[in-house]
Amino acid sequence: METTPSRRRFLARLSIALSGAIAAVAGVPVVGFLVSPLLRKAPRAWRPVGAVDGFAVGETVSVVFEDASPLPWAGVTARSAAWLRRDDPGHFTAFSVHCTHLGCPVRWVADAQLFLCPCHGGVYYPDGSRAAGPPPKPLPQYPVRVRNGQVEILTSPIPIV
Ligand code: FES
Repeated sequence: METTPSRRRFLARLSIALSGAIAAVAGVPVVGFLVSPLLRKAPRAWRPVGAVDGFAVGETVSVVFEDASPLPWAGVTARSAAWLRRDDPGHFTAFSVHCTHLGCPVRWVADAQLFLCPCHGGVYYPDGSRAAGPPPKPLPQYPVRVRNGQVEILTSPIPIV
């Protein structure tokens, strides 16, 4: 059976239109899946890190807490850490353990009263400000509060540059 040019043209256009519609229907969820993590706000949650009486005034200690939204299969990777200092009986300061250079874990050296980064020699003063080395910024701090005798840290995404 012969088809006329106009019928052939119509079928070609219909085919292109249907292909475009199918691509749009299939593509919207894929684009949404790819873009949504960029638009989603990171969850934050207050996490207890220990009883107030368990921290001595003036001491800086490592504390461990769970992420705001741990995945069921995350296991130990759902745990995070911070350096917590009891500045005075009623006030705490929590520092990120992640160096602002490339994110290596810093450690508190009590004898030197400094935070040291082992990766490239970054050094921070006790208040978290940069003392030496490549770190471009001070150590980030987490909000801290005391509730029902427990010290709590407000979790947030790993604050590295
Ligand atoms: S990651 Fe800490 S100094 Fe480079």
